[in-house]
Amino acid sequence: MTISLEHAKQLDQQDPLSHFKSRFNLPEGVIYLDGNSLGAQPIASQNAVEKTLIQWREELIKGWNQGWFDAPERLGNLMAPLIGAKEGEVLVTDNITLNIYKLIGYVTETQQRKRPVILSEGGNFPTDGYIAQGFCHFSEFEHRFFPEGSNVEDYLNDQVAVVVMSHVHYRTGVLRDMKKITEKVHQHGAEIIWDLAHSAGALEVDLAGNNVNFAVGCTYKYLNGGPGSPGFLYVSKKMQDKGWQPLTGWHGHSAPFVFDLDYSPAMGITQFRTGTHSALIYSSLEASLLLWKDVDMAELRNKSLKMTDFFRDCIADVIQRHSIKDITSDASLRGSQVSLINKENGFAIVQALISRGVIGDYREPGLLRFGFTPLYLSYEDVWQAARHFCEVVESGEYKKPEFQVRSSVT
Ligand SMILES: Cc1ncc(COP(=O)(O)O)c(C=O)c1O
Repeated sequence: MTISLEHAKQLDQQDPLSHFKSRFNLPEGVIYLDGNSLGAQPIASQNAVEKTLIQWREELIKGWNQGWFDAPERLGNLMAPLIGAKEGEVLVTDNITLNIYKLIGYVTETQQRKRPVILSEGGNFPTDGYIAQGFCHFSEFEHRFFPEGSNVEDYLNDQVAVVVMSHVHYRTGVLRDMKKITEKVHQHGAEIIWDLAHSAGALEVDLAGNNVNFAVGCTYKYLNGGPGSPGFLYVSKKMQDKGWQPLTGWHGHSAPFVFDLDYSPAMGITQFRTGTHSALIYSSLEASLLLWKDVDMAELRNKSLKMTDFFRDCIADVIQRHSIKDITSDASLRGSQVSLINKENGFAIVQALISRGVIGDYREPGLLRFGFTPLYLSYEDVWQAARHFCEVVESGEYKKPEFQVRSSVT
């Protein structure tokens, strides 16, 4: 490795975000490059969950009137500025899978079910396609894929109701042109639901500026809400109150505590609620979202691009010698991850790194994925991760039998 540790330390001294690291509980001896799967724990989240446990013990059911019940809308409003949305346009609820289902149903309702096709990108995170297929299985709609990375316009026509697509691709980390694609879809009279799983909290997202009407995302990755923290759903003001969404639960009713037998949707974003949520995990997420109020997203994006390039520069010689391909995109088309391909040894290299405390992840076939989270990673961390990577690959350490064993979560 030709880049020196001194250089990394200099970059840290110039880093305007370096102070955020002290606001996270990070285990000793770990360099965490998997914040694109599960973010690290903010210290404030630990305190907030402990407070909620005490509130539960002391206040019992009164807690629901002390902030628990309103959390989906309140946290939605905290999320809004991170994704270019306005107050009342974001609801923190359920998960991406269920939220896509709700939005597909809602969009087709706003179109009076006149268009029969639900289109989604092949190669996207599978749940987005699975849930579209589930929706079609129980209705008259038809699900179709268009090939990954192809021009969506070639697949649009007056039969297409809605397109489901990721803003940043989970495998390649490629960032899509949200403005251009949204415009094309709208020109064909269809709608698009953007999946922001790998962009919310990873880069600046401007839903209003790009004329987006529908989006979903999760909070357990870059937003550090905690394991199983809820997803979110965005519906622009102009598309609200146009019909039903299909998961008509009591929390989305216009008067949930009247216990009417017939459903009538609540007004605004609230109709996208379903049933009871977890006060504990919402308190963890709320503490994290409050931390995000102090983050300058332009600085975050700048550091993310700089860090990903720094890591790639550090490992460039070694990957070339060992036939590992770097498929990370150029800066303008990059999320916040580095993606490398080696079908033969990728899995074992990631396992060997994990055993050294450098945590990335592996996705079939052959993808080594490293997520870069500017809030709690330093350039020195990145340099050390690259050093371990080079040692593991050059020495052949990954060939040890223990690194070939597969567990259920990779
Ligand atoms: C692009 C994308 N969509 C959806 C999901 C998961 O959805 P859910 O929150 O419903 O588990 C992931 C998980 O990694 C993802 O990467």
